Amino acid sequence: MKLLVTGGAGYVGSVNAARLAEAGHEVVVVDDLSTGHADAVPSECRFVEGDLTEVAPGLLAEGFDGVLHFAAKSLVGESMTEPAKYWHGNVNASVALLDAMVAAGTPRLVFSSTAATYGEPEQVPIKETARTSPTNTYGYTKLAIDYAITTYAQAHNIAAVSLRYFNVAGAYGRFGERHAVETHLIPIILQVATGDREQVQIFGEDWPTEDGTCVRDYIHVVDLADAHLLALQHAMPGTHGIYNLGSGAGFSVRQVIDTCRDVTGHPIPAAVAPRRAGDPAVLVASSEKARTELGWQPKREKLADIVGDAWTFTQSRR
Ligand code: UFG
Repeated sequence: MKLLVTGGAGYVGSVNAARLAEAGHEVVVVDDLSTGHADAVPSECRFVEGDLTEVAPGLLAEGFDGVLHFAAKSLVGESMTEPAKYWHGNVNASVALLDAMVAAGTPRLVFSSTAATYGEPEQVPIKETARTSPTNTYGYTKLAIDYAITTYAQAHNIAAVSLRYFNVAGAYGRFGERHAVETHLIPIILQVATGDREQVQIFGEDWPTEDGTCVRDYIHVVDLADAHLLALQHAMPGTHGIYNLGSGAGFSVRQVIDTCRDVTGHPIPAAVAPRRAGDPAVLVASSEKARTELGWQPKREKLADIVGDAWTFTQSRR
């Protein structure tokens, strides 16, 4: 298939672009490089630099079999202080992309949605039928895009799938997480192990969890990419399928730090800090629907393996 990958210079987008190209697809990457890196675009892919609202109509008019839409602002904390960045960068850009798909008659869409659409869950593990009630602007914007996709898919016969990621981690060879300002837990801990940071801050230890720190469901970025390939194959015209992607196991911030200590052999000093705005206490996925309907089978579920791949990547960049 000829596929357009938006955000393919970013962490999750570049891993997916690489896997899609390896699977034999013709991949074009579009990215505005606001947070991504040109050298993260796989060499097999054509790269177009630009803002989606400007370049999407012209690009899609070339004729594509599908779009994988990763381009987004994705920092929970930042979304609380700079909401405009998220409403414009996520919602406006996605609606422009959908309009361009309709104009060009592009038949398939796979969208990077998020666990943040659910907010503080009433039941864990979280199913796709759970109430959506985001606790932060980031989650609101992704949920708004999901609603837009549902209506565009029905009205214009697009075969659409949203994959609601839980906490993506790990790396794929030279493709990994490297944000200019890092906010994610595992890369921050690994920066302590490399000596680039003195200690990791634990955002609150008074949460209603076993050890008082937040619990998250970590999914390997390569397992995530496998799900995108399956979603492309299973998408049905005129419908919008929504699937959670996680490993189904929750790890507390303290457990993640301990795993990183084991993997790196570094003591990794940690200090307790105040809670971070917008954080839910526990986010753990039920991925039953993805497993049964898409045939998805994550292969890299051990947290030590996920951290191990991120650690190999981090060391290779030094
Ligand atoms: N945390 C710390 N210290 C840090 C960084 C993070 O204690 O220095 C904690 C956070 O408070 C949170 C957990 O570690 O409890 C994980 O935080 P991340 O920032 O790594 O990830 P988030 O859970 O906030 O968000 C991530 C993605 C979102 C996605 C969400 C869904 O960034 O895009 O997972 O679970 F929506």
